[in-house]
Formats: sequence, structure tokens, C-alpha cells
Amino acid sequence: MEKLVVTGPTSLKGDVLIGGAKNAAVAILPATLLIDGECTIENLPNISDIKISCEILEKLGAKITWIDKNTIKIDTRHITTTKAPLDLTSKFRASYYIIGAMLSRMGEIEVGMPGGCKLGARPIDQHIKGFELLGAEVTVEKGTIYAKSKELVGCPVYMDIVSVGATINVMLSAVLAKGTTIIDNAAKEPHIVDVANFLNTMGADIRGAGTDVIKINGVEKLHGNATYSVVPDQIEAGTFMLAAVATQGNVTLKNCITKHLESITAKIIEIGGNVEDNGDSIRVWCDKRPRKANIKTLPYPGFPTDLQPQMGIVLSLADGTSIINESIWESRFQYTEELNKMGAKITAQGKTAVFEGVENLYGAPVYSSDLRAGAALVIAGTVAHGTTEIFNLEHIDRGYENIEEKFRKIGANIQRIKE
Ligand code: EPU
Repeated sequence: MEKLVVTGPTSLKGDVLIGGAKNAAVAILPATLLIDGECTIENLPNISDIKISCEILEKLGAKITWIDKNTIKIDTRHITTTKAPLDLTSKFRASYYIIGAMLSRMGEIEVGMPGGCKLGARPIDQHIKGFELLGAEVTVEKGTIYAKSKELVGCPVYMDIVSVGATINVMLSAVLAKGTTIIDNAAKEPHIVDVANFLNTMGADIRGAGTDVIKINGVEKLHGNATYSVVPDQIEAGTFMLAAVATQGNVTLKNCITKHLESITAKIIEIGGNVEDNGDSIRVWCDKRPRKANIKTLPYPGFPTDLQPQMGIVLSLADGTSIINESIWESRFQYTEELNKMGAKITAQGKTAVFEGVENLYGAPVYSSDLRAGAALVIAGTVAHGTTEIFNLEHIDRGYENIEEKFRKIGANIQRIKE
């Protein structure tokens, strides 16, 4: 078992290089299944979700060569099975993208129900609805999803709710379909644009990604033979922006797209922090206790649910009482119990939490309940007086490459210890 041991308080200062976006990369890898050829993907985050994605693709017949720790060459010319390994696919959420991609490529797929962070109910009805509208038959039995189709035919797909996963999955199933698919009420996250850009680079005809109407004109084949670099991770950047504010530090994030960070920038300024936008880098600093604020998480371009716990650390230390309303996931306040062990005063009920700001947090043993909760606890440990031990690191390792090294580089006293 491993744990992170953080001793604080530390004011974080220095530069952090932001990596490729996890939630774009976990979709781009299955999207390579649409290509009858070879391509190179750069700026992949070196995290466990990516390693599992690669293992699944290899089990399906793809050949993967690691060029360096963030670049792979992938050859998807010889797909040898339509049964995805159930044990691996049920380990993480984004395995659902195998369905859209394999329906397109092979017309058939058998895959385990996706796993991932326990954030409450995580249905995939909108994915299934989209596949069925395009002509697939989908059944779910005993934790396994079976999907098949003789021919996928483009059509209008109206999403009942705004869903990142369903938007990308329907896009994947429509790229090689006959005719035109129009996804209405589509999600607009930067990773959706990135997956569309990747597919277009390989020969797809997708327009409107980043708006709520995406039009996909089916093409006969994708050609491969190209190199694509994954978009910088908006959530990793936001995590370090909020770490700078919580620790009253001064941190510059290199390799980010500042446009993707506007909702976070606006909140940081509202609570008294400072942000300097330099185009492909952003400097965040704060020299006083942050002010209270109210937050409601929303689909992009709203404040992202994936930064809610990190913002929760900042508000637990703010001057005054703040309220966070979590509108995407039912159970994303599990971290508040851990934070209360460190001296915070948070009352969470259902999708609302009230943060009565305290002046200091104190080190304690805490457990990471999910990926972003884990990152938030690293920030909490850095700002807290004394030593914090963080357990359940497998969640953090799913989504952050070398989190302790990046925090250490900007001054945190943090070690990973194997027991
Ligand atoms: N929903 C449905 N039916 C569906 C799909 C979604 O009711 O068929 C609901 C969900 O229950 C949720 C809402 O719609 O209440 C939004 O879910 P969405 O489909 O957008 O989430 P997701 O695709 O499963 C991705 C990210 C999450 C991130 C959410 C929201 C990936 C692999 N995961 O999940 O990332 O929180 O979008 O932005 O892209 C994380 O990185 O820590 C993480 C949890």
C-alpha cells in the first residue's frame, strides 16, 4: 500500500508544466479503432487510466509502441476480437467509448459495464439511445453490454441531458455511418472539441464541436498516418490554480489554454485572488485570505464539477460562509468528511454543502474517495499545519501524472511512501 505524506503549511511558488487532458485522451485512444492504419499520439498523460486503455486496445488486436512516456504509436489495422476484456473495461469509466468505436469499426462489441469513481448513479442511457437511433441493437445482461449493428445510418440525436460521454460516444459511432448525424443538446467541453479535431485530422467530417449542435457527415474510412497532440488538461491546470489560491502562493502554469479556464479565473478574482493570462500560460497568486463565494457546478463553460472539491478546500479557508451546489454528481461531497477531520467546518447534505470558513486546517490521516477528492486532499495537506497522510492513492494515480513531483517542484513537502 502507498500513501502520500504532506507536511505544511507551505505557500506554493514556481512553475508547473500541465500535461495532456485525461478526459480527451481516454476518448482519443478508443477513437483510433476507427482508423484502418497507424497514427502517433503525443502529449498523453502517463496515468493508470491511459495504461488500462492501451491494454484494452492491445487485447482487441491493436499494436502499441511507446515512443516516450507521453507518446505512442498505435496500429489498429488488425482488430482480432469483438470481446473486450471484462475485467479491464469494468475498471474505469471511459471504457464505454469502446462501444461507439467498435460498433463503427466491427459492427459488434461485448464489453463490461464501465467502472470509475463512485460519484452516485452513472447511467449510460443516453449513449444507448444514440446507438439505437443509428440502428444498433444494444442489450445489457449481468454487467455486460452487447451491441451490434448490420449498418449504422446517420440521423438526428437529441440528448435529453448534456452528457460528455454520450456526446463523444455517439460521435464515434456516427463517423463511419451512412449519411449525416446531428447531435443536438451536445456537451461543449474542450475534450469534445479535441476528439473531433483528432477524428477530423484522420479524415472525419465533424462540424460544430464546442457548440451544442454537432453535425457528423459519415465518411467511408479514416486514413491514419498522422500525428496528433492531446489538448492540455483544463482540470489539472485548474487544480494548480486553486492550489495557488488556497496556499496564498504564486504559481505559473505552462502549456495551458487559458480560454478553457475562464470560469475558474472568474471565481478566483471574485474571492480576491489574482490571475495574469499570458495566452499559453497563466499566473495565479493570492496574498490574503480568500473571500467567501457561492458556486454551482455546470457543464462547460460553467464551473466544472471536476474542480468542485479543489474549490471546496479554498472555500473551507475563506473569510465567511460559502455554499457549493453540485448539479452534476450525487455523491461528490465525500471529501468534506475528510476535510472536517482536518478542522474544516462543512455541512453537506445531498447536492449542497455549506462551508463555514476557518483560519487554519490541521494535518490528519485522510482517505481519497475519488480522483478529484484525492487532488483536493493534496492541496489541503499542503496548506494544513502539521502532517497529513493521504490513503487510497489509486484514485489520484488514475488521473494525475506524478502529482507529488509537480507539487514538490513548487515547494510542497510531499513524499510517496510504500508500506
Ligand atoms: N447521465 C445520464 N445518462 C447518460 C449519461 C450521463 O443520466 O447516459 C448523467 C450523469 O449521471 C450525470 C450527467 O448526466 O449526472 C453528466 O454526465 P456525463 O455523461 O457528462 O459524465 P461522464 O461522461 O460519465 C465525464 C468525465 C467526468 C466528469 C463528467 C462531467 C470522462 C471519462 N469523465 O463523465 O470526469 O465529471 O464528464 O464533466 O470524461 C473526472 O475526471 O474526475 C471525472 C469524473
